[in-house]
Amino acid sequence: MLLDRLGRPLRDLRVSVTDRCNLRCTYCMPADVFGPDYAFLPRAELLTFEEIERLARAFVALGVQKLRITGGEPLLRRDLPDLIARLSRMNGVQDVALTTNGLLLPRLAGDLKAAGLNRVTVSLDSLDPEVFGRMNGLKVQPQRVLDGIEAALQAGLGVKVNTVVQRGVNDAGLRDLWLALRDSAVVRFIEFMDVGNHNGWNLDAVVPSREVLARLSAAGEGADGTGGEFQPVNPNYRGEVAARHVDAGGHEIGLISSVTAPFCGDCSRARLSAVGVLYTCLFAGVGTDLRAPLRAGASDTEVRDVIAGVWQGRRDRYSEERGENTRERKVEMSHIGG
Ligand code: GTP
Ligand code: 5AD
Ligand code: SF4
Ligand code: SF4
Repeated sequence: MLLDRLGRPLRDLRVSVTDRCNLRCTYCMPADVFGPDYAFLPRAELLTFEEIERLARAFVALGVQKLRITGGEPLLRRDLPDLIARLSRMNGVQDVALTTNGLLLPRLAGDLKAAGLNRVTVSLDSLDPEVFGRMNGLKVQPQRVLDGIEAALQAGLGVKVNTVVQRGVNDAGLRDLWLALRDSAVVRFIEFMDVGNHNGWNLDAVVPSREVLARLSAAGEGADGTGGEFQPVNPNYRGEVAARHVDAGGHEIGLISSVTAPFCGDCSRARLSAVGVLYTCLFAGVGTDLRAPLRAGASDTEVRDVIAGVWQGRRDRYSEERGENTRERKVEMSHIGG
């Protein structure tokens, strides 16, 4: 089995298909940086679906079982269901998922499901129109995301919801959000992270997951027995990012605690940017260009050897090493999709 320097296998590949997005979340693509003059990648730079499929095949041959499509906003990539179809029929692929802001799901959920997608993870930070409008940078209303979630459920897709928690910004509304969604989706609360170079991260803005849990519990001892104290439950698989908890009514929440309880020890994730650069950590400074060898005519074996070499040399454990100072220059979240 292919292992990195810390003994971790390669199991999970996350593929970004575009660096563009139709939102401007303040913690990811702040509007003052990603404005009208921002130079997004030209189309010719992006990997084609053929190239993505070829690279994915190489990763699967090296142990990858799970594929996640990300962005930017992946549903902005034209004909995305065609890519899903190519990937979901690939031998050895056990799970194909998609991370999206949900805005285009009413239009695309049916086609995505038909193409073989199993599930979506939708980002939604607040149900309060004012708070969400501010966080997404464009005053987009939460109802539009809820419509997207509904469309996904109608199409038969599994749904998880990702909520990034920022102190003093959306932390007051977490319980409302969970109550509204818990019967149709698994909600996961993510500690605000110092990804990229522009999101103004500081430790004071992080609400530790244990505090999130305490808030959800304390507020929630209803007569129906739900919402009360949460119990931890076993992970669904080794290295699961979200720590799962359930309440007395069996409603699940997930806590993603990259800041207060890093999970690098089990990290089996590789990330491929939209231009074909391989990153072995969400916080990487540099990556390895796979597009160049691909476009120079490298054989499948040669491509596989490059990937294997990178993985074998991997020692990333950024979240465990995060100190007072974060790394100088990191890859943008909009390039590798979280
Ligand atoms: P499941 O397959 O549903 O378990 O997905 P997942 O939880 O692995 O994936 P998802 O993309 O939904 O992850 C949720 C969020 O957790 C991401 O958007 C990131 O913010 C964070 N996250 C995921 N993987 C990593 C990681 O390797 N390191 C860190 N620091 N954060 C991560
Ligand atoms: N901290 C935590 N999560 C983030 N995401 C984007 N930026 C950050 C950040 N700075 C999450 C989004 C989305 C996923 C792609 O990553 O909310 O769910
Ligand atoms: Fe777009 Fe997602 Fe980044 Fe928000 S977090 S700007 S929806 S890519
Ligand atoms: Fe993996 Fe890097 Fe996240 Fe640690 S910080 S879990 S090594 S992606």
